Amino acid sequence: MTRKSPPDLRSARWFSPDDLRSFGHRSRMMQLGYSEEDFRDRPVIGVLNTWSELNTCHAHFKERVQDVKRGVLQAGGFPVEMPSLSVDESFTKPTSMLYRNMLAMETEEMIRSHPLDGVVLMGGCDKTTPGLVMGAISAGVPMIYLPAGPMLRGNYAGKILGSGSDAWKYWDERRAGNITDEEWLGIQGGIARSAGTCMTMGTASTMTAIADAMGLTLPGASSIPAVDAGHQRMSADCGRRIVEMVWEDLTPDKIISEGACRNAAVVAMATGCSTNAVVHLIAMARRAGVDLTLDHLDALGRVTPLIANVRPSGKDYLMEDFFYAGGLRALMKQIEDRLDCSAMTVTGKTLGENLEGARVYNDDVIRPLSNPVYEEGSLAVLRGNLCPDGAVMKPAACDPKFHVHQGPALVFDSYPEMKKAVDDENLDITPDHIMVLRNAGPLGGPGFPEWGMLPIPKALIKQGHRDMLRISDARMSGTSYGACVLHVAPESFVGGPLALLETGDIVRLDLPNRRLDMLVDEAELAARKAAWKAPERRFERGWGYMFSQHVTQADQGCDFDFLQSDFGRTAGEPDI
Ligand code: FES
Ligand code: MG
Repeated sequence: MTRKSPPDLRSARWFSPDDLRSFGHRSRMMQLGYSEEDFRDRPVIGVLNTWSELNTCHAHFKERVQDVKRGVLQAGGFPVEMPSLSVDESFTKPTSMLYRNMLAMETEEMIRSHPLDGVVLMGGCDKTTPGLVMGAISAGVPMIYLPAGPMLRGNYAGKILGSGSDAWKYWDERRAGNITDEEWLGIQGGIARSAGTCMTMGTASTMTAIADAMGLTLPGASSIPAVDAGHQRMSADCGRRIVEMVWEDLTPDKIISEGACRNAAVVAMATGCSTNAVVHLIAMARRAGVDLTLDHLDALGRVTPLIANVRPSGKDYLMEDFFYAGGLRALMKQIEDRLDCSAMTVTGKTLGENLEGARVYNDDVIRPLSNPVYEEGSLAVLRGNLCPDGAVMKPAACDPKFHVHQGPALVFDSYPEMKKAVDDENLDITPDHIMVLRNAGPLGGPGFPEWGMLPIPKALIKQGHRDMLRISDARMSGTSYGACVLHVAPESFVGGPLALLETGDIVRLDLPNRRLDMLVDEAELAARKAAWKAPERRFERGWGYMFSQHVTQADQGCDFDFLQSDFGRTAGEPDI
């Protein structure tokens, strides 16, 4: 391996020449209190920190960044913290997904326009992982991903609580009148009790596991709980390692290969991934020039057993247990034969080398292949006349009686309309009905909100029902569960067939054969299509306008058309 020397550093273009511009750059560094010795001839490492006081999952990043800087300095680099867009999952409306691409754009442009030789990306809450990684792939400098880590297990009155999943579960019980106000308040205070990301295998844990499996984190970093002292040590290690990566010129294109993307997909399936992973993984892979499709993911979903017994797809455990059981390295060790172990990683070693010595310490949490939680079924991709470009479902997270199901549709055009209906105790609905929500996709939502786990109508809850078949062009939270068909593409807002469905039409799901169809004859559908009128676009200005002009459909990863790797010419290096 040829090592870079100081004059080869990207930052040297800003700091080294004996000209007026570089004089300006150096004098401005001195304005900050640094001597030339601090920043010249050293890798300048941007630490992209997505901390904010409204990002509860990244609450520890304000201190953690100090550990990263310590590592960078020790290894002879020069760290600069760069605050980055903090896309949090809880408070961002209408949905954080509206801003994933904004973070990706910001990341790419901030890296490209500044004197950075390498970056540490600090993220973890759902959209921050793909947003940071997508942008950094396009920027192309060496990068290492620092996952926030999951929060501690929830706890109330001696009961373990899982992020999201138990909120939905106990909310249904509250609607059924089974929970007191006092208990509800106790659950509210106990379900999120430390810094860190949701501790179920929701979108955050899935996406950080994907980054880990792709070789973008230090090995196993994604499993370390946010408040574990090991998380601080890992952060300092990220700082030390990125400096070496700069000298080695270990850029993301050398890491994110087809094999690395496939590894990420296999690991996602084996962990019972969030359905959101599909959208993000496709977008990330495409940034790296790897054409990963829904069909590839379905094929892997069919043959990859789910071995992480972590809720919501697994039954019993949470991320803290997963860490104690050996974490992601142990899980990957179990499925080593199914991975491309020659894939390069940020350590400068292959995935196979990084897995040496990994062991499972609790084989009920991380199951052997001989005793999986499910033989297959983390994810299924459906096709049919309702979803010609695909739809996704999580077979493992729903009642198997819905795997083959036929029933009349009850169609809602908006979320408020649906919400009103489900609270109506006299709603005319049976457990065989199929609830449908449309105008909830990338453009319809807008921003592709997580509305896909439509609430079970009160009328059915009172009768004791807790699951039913639901279909939408929305996403759902990775912590959700149930018989929910999601990401119907093309979405109804752009005239996808879902727009033509009417209440009372019979819909048929045949999961084993991966079909989703409305049993309406073609002539009738053609007539409805001719009568269909496109809804008004929702945003007329600002980011929303830009988003609505350029976002691609779910099966394409919802990246902007002009940010895909094959679009136009890259900006190249800035003139200095
Ligand atoms: Fe941040 Fe769930 S809200 S990871
Ligand atoms: Mg989520």
